[in-house]
Amino acid sequence: MDLYEYQARDMFEAHGVPVLAGIVAHTPEEAKAAAEKIGGVTVVKAQVKVGGRGKAGGVKVAKTADEAFQYASDILGMDIKGHTVHQVMIAQGADIAEEFYFSVLLDRANRNYLAMCSVEGGMEIEVLAVERPEALARVAVDPAVGIDQAKAEEIVDTAGFAAEVRDGVIATIIKLWDVFKKEDATLVEVNPLVKTGDGRILALDGKVTLDANADFRHPDHEALEDKAAADPLEAKAKENDLNYVKLDGEVGIIGNGAGLVMSTLDVVAYAGENHGNVKPANFLDIGGGASAEVMAAGLDVILNDEQVKSVFVNVFGGITACDAVANGIVKALEILGTAANKPLVVRLDGNNVEEGRRILTEANHPLVTLAATMDDGADKAAELANAAVANV
Ligand SMILES: Nc1ncnc2c1ncn2[C@@H]1O[C@H](COP(=O)(O)OP(=O)(O)O)[C@@H](O)[C@H]1O
Ligand SMILES: [Mg+2]
Repeated sequence: MDLYEYQARDMFEAHGVPVLAGIVAHTPEEAKAAAEKIGGVTVVKAQVKVGGRGKAGGVKVAKTADEAFQYASDILGMDIKGHTVHQVMIAQGADIAEEFYFSVLLDRANRNYLAMCSVEGGMEIEVLAVERPEALARVAVDPAVGIDQAKAEEIVDTAGFAAEVRDGVIATIIKLWDVFKKEDATLVEVNPLVKTGDGRILALDGKVTLDANADFRHPDHEALEDKAAADPLEAKAKENDLNYVKLDGEVGIIGNGAGLVMSTLDVVAYAGENHGNVKPANFLDIGGGASAEVMAAGLDVILNDEQVKSVFVNVFGGITACDAVANGIVKALEILGTAANKPLVVRLDGNNVEEGRRILTEANHPLVTLAATMDDGADKAAELANAAVANV
């Protein structure tokens, strides 16, 4: 889960990272009140989970509270790279002397953590990394040790910070590591980290990604979730512990195991090329235990997606054998009753496949078509979806 900047700011503050005052506002009136409360020069900042807000006109310096009101009315409702701005943060204005960059992240390729740091922050770091890679220090961080004083010194000296800011940046980086570790983040990025006119070091813009696998350790993280922005079907799937991702196409997909579901997406997309270019509508992995309840919950989620015109159930029987899966499908259709209203193509293989196919044949449900292979199933599901699209 990615956090909004204001949430990252609050988290930084809680861990002792130096930040400036910041108050969230949903209306220009709230923005004005916040600016009055903070006092002096403030900055109105669009709260969207995407970078480059400054360049897009989503960050404006307001000299007075009335200006904050004006900028908030301009920025609220704005579209930044496909994200609508529903809230702004009114931040205390900083007197910036220099802008730096710092991040620490999970480096999956190297099975390690990686710190990146530069004395040239503020601009898009991707551009710097490509055009002048030598200006971006990359220092591996041993997970067992983390960023202690020695590691922070190594990072700061590799990046080439001036002596006058060295101690302040080192102390801040150690605090940012605290955020990363104690909150179970996979990314903590500060751009810009700044030196102010009076020589203070401040984190002016923060990006934090939390590791959902560690949610059980952080009951407080649930409150950070943006329920309003979440897709209602994704929320429903999550309630049922289903791994579901909504996509843009017409063929609903249910499979067991992430690898099988992914290859099913590919095969369906390929088959769709022969059937009006229909595409997979979602990713749904019902996992190992495909009980009737899990199958019903999965079908319920997919059938409620209006874009879905047909469903392809592609299951490889393992510990949960094909007969159990077939019984699950039959019972799920019973449970759903008239809510099940789109054609289902089912391909079963693996453990007890004969018995599984026999159960489905015997049930003879009008919506269900059995497919012998994955390719056949994908082709049939794409054909049915295309026919339904054509009929609308
Ligand atoms: N509180 C602040 N005071 C003064 N300037 C700021 C403040 N916050 C941001 N800025 C300026 O605006 C630029 C862009 O803001 P930032 O928060 O980094 O958004 P983004 O990275 O999405 O463009 C910063 O590089 C900085 O120069
Ligand atoms: Mg930034």
